[in-house]
Amino acid sequence: MSQPLTVIPGFDLWPGLLDLATQKALVEAALAAAQTAPFANYETGYGKAMSVAMTAFGPLGWTSDKTGYRYAEQHPGTERPWPAMPQVLLDLWTRLGDADTPPDSCLINLYRDGARMGLHQDRDEADPAFPVLSISLGDTAVFRIGGTSRKDPTRSLKLTSGDVCRLAGPARLAFHGVDRILTGSSGLVPGGGRINLTLRRARLSAKQTAPQP
Ligand code: SIN
Ligand code: FE2
Repeated sequence: MSQPLTVIPGFDLWPGLLDLATQKALVEAALAAAQTAPFANYETGYGKAMSVAMTAFGPLGWTSDKTGYRYAEQHPGTERPWPAMPQVLLDLWTRLGDADTPPDSCLINLYRDGARMGLHQDRDEADPAFPVLSISLGDTAVFRIGGTSRKDPTRSLKLTSGDVCRLAGPARLAFHGVDRILTGSSGLVPGGGRINLTLRRARLSAKQTAPQP
């Protein structure tokens, strides 16, 4: 595997790690998942709908409403479990995420024309020792990353289809977001736009929750 570029300590980027066939298969899997677990534009705590539409693969999906954010075992609309995580994502996590503990959630973010994601930290997971792995598919994103304080300086970089990046260690709780999507920069996503997949371990591992001898 190619060496990653360390953008800031703890934030590594593997440009073009996924080949076109894998990118296409993942877009198809994400759109198939949305047939049973439809994309939703969740409300944030401020009562405003997000411009990014979301669903998930795996035992847990992230949802949000006026009462707050959480990982849930069921899609809030259908009240059914989330679709299973594709094997290629489990394998990627074993290589770049954590070899011992599988991911229990993969968020699927759909950015259509004009969608963006404000600067935030990923901090709804039980143990930030597990990294977050992010996969970009379709149109290029103008991504922004800073430090662990909202006031820290940020830098901007482009994430293109097939790129994989990892937030870990000192960057695991770094503020990050998507300023905008370069509409039409890729034809990969039917109907246009970008799909981002983020693999996470949201709950503690079985080992961590086992009773101590
Ligand atoms: C996220 O922070 O959840 C999404 C990041 C991205 O779309 O690249
Ligand atoms: Fe995030």
